[in-house]
Amino acid sequence: MAIEDRLKGIILAGGTGSRLKQNTEVQNKHLVRVGKYPMIEYPLATLAKLGVNDITVVTGAEHAGSIMNYLTRRHPEIDFTYKVQKEAGGIAQALALTRNVVEGHKIAVILGDNIYEEDFRLYASGFLQKNEGCQLFLKRVPDPHRFGVAEVRDGRVFSIEEKPTHPKSNLAVTGLYFFDASVFDKIGQLKPSARGEYEITDVNNMYVHEDRACVALVDGFWSDAGTLPSLDHCEEWLRESGYDPLRAK
Ligand code: DAU
Repeated sequence: MAIEDRLKGIILAGGTGSRLKQNTEVQNKHLVRVGKYPMIEYPLATLAKLGVNDITVVTGAEHAGSIMNYLTRRHPEIDFTYKVQKEAGGIAQALALTRNVVEGHKIAVILGDNIYEEDFRLYASGFLQKNEGCQLFLKRVPDPHRFGVAEVRDGRVFSIEEKPTHPKSNLAVTGLYFFDASVFDKIGQLKPSARGEYEITDVNNMYVHEDRACVALVDGFWSDAGTLPSLDHCEEWLRESGYDPLRAK
């Protein structure tokens, strides 16, 4: 069976975009231009490269219509389902909204502000064959305190901390996750974190404690584009590399 029949794609583009405030008052953060395209084209290309063409997009209530209009018009080849997250209650809360669409399937989830150069298709095929619960992708970064940070021993992840003050490593957990169908029951057990969000890191740690989380290092460029400095960093890389998400299939 082809990947597209067995792996469902999800783009999480909810939240408030408050860290890009000057760019997001009149439009959705995920439509802010990065290089030649709106931000959401990059995570969309990452899922498209996996062979996934059945994609659920979670947006915030504000400007939801503009995301739907944009994607439906620009990508008639993709079968989109939309879900609206009414409040920015966290990445895991946004993911929970997709349960009735993807229930029973393995899923590839990507954050709407994450930009990758790499093609993860081989990992997707591997994940579909294996009995791992989740596949995480790590990247060495100079500023791990901004991310979920993984402690890895002998190739297995031992713990993940969300935005630690004293990171145990420089391995950021990037915003592409493959999960098995048990992810929604795990989200159902979550309590909000100290910052009041349902954290994807807490979900990932449940897989870690079951010893069903596997990790790989991201080759090539990765960054989020959700803050002004990281947006600049992406722009600079796009200028220098000439990477084009619509051509890299
Ligand atoms: O970029 C990778 C990092 O993303 C990970 O290392 C962290 O573990 C993970 O928590 C996340 O951290 P951020 O602080 O960068 O996440 P942020 O709140 O900026 O949200 C990233 C995307 O997730 C955003 O563009 C849309 C989606 N999101 C976020 C929230 C809070 C939602 O769809 N709904 C939400 O409620």
